[in-house]
Amino acid sequence: MTTDENKMLQELTHGISEVLIPEESINQRVSELGAAISQDYEGRNPLFIGVLKGVFFFMADLLRKVTIPVEVDFIAISSYSLEARDKGFVRLVKDLDTPITGRHVLFIEDVVDTGLTLNYLLQNLNSRSPASLEVCTIFNKPHHRLIDLSLKYVGFDLPDRFVVGYGLDYRERYRNLPYVALLKAQTITPALRGSNLNII
Ligand code: PRP
Repeated sequence: MTTDENKMLQELTHGISEVLIPEESINQRVSELGAAISQDYEGRNPLFIGVLKGVFFFMADLLRKVTIPVEVDFIAISSYSLEARDKGFVRLVKDLDTPITGRHVLFIEDVVDTGLTLNYLLQNLNSRSPASLEVCTIFNKPHHRLIDLSLKYVGFDLPDRFVVGYGLDYRERYRNLPYVALLKAQTITPALRGSNLNII
């Protein structure tokens, strides 16, 4: 590694205290999920739907491990406000390009925390009458779940800590870490230490 590359890497990892899930473990788990999904959805031409932004790392890696034909679409959401989000209200800022009526839909998430966002989105998608609708999330944070949801494919359960990397951000930073890490305590706002709600 050159001096310049080393300096850039140090800048990126400056606020990190500990690697929680190494890159190799993520790669391995994504491969396993890809194999399971390929088997389960063979012959069904599934549509994978991701919710931006954090999911795009997982979506890209997962798709490359899926060995059957699939189609992909994305939605983007914005919560009205912190209070509205707490009540489960979210606003679609980009809807699907593809009709999903009669389609086998696999909804791809980076993280499910309270479950409020996913609950809203599943209701919205279900109202469009897909043939089936299941969920695959690479990370699950069960400690603050407010709604019981069925997650068919789960990569990793995360502890009740604020984590970053592999799509998860802190103030839009750290998404591009190839692993999941804890931030140094002094890096983060105290109220966020057990949450991945990126509200600041
Ligand atoms: C994440 C994730 C879900 C939501 C889950 O998005 O993609 O949309 O949080 O949280 P919940 O279960 O408590 O509702 P985030 O707000 O971090 O946006 P981002 O993907 O753009 O970073």
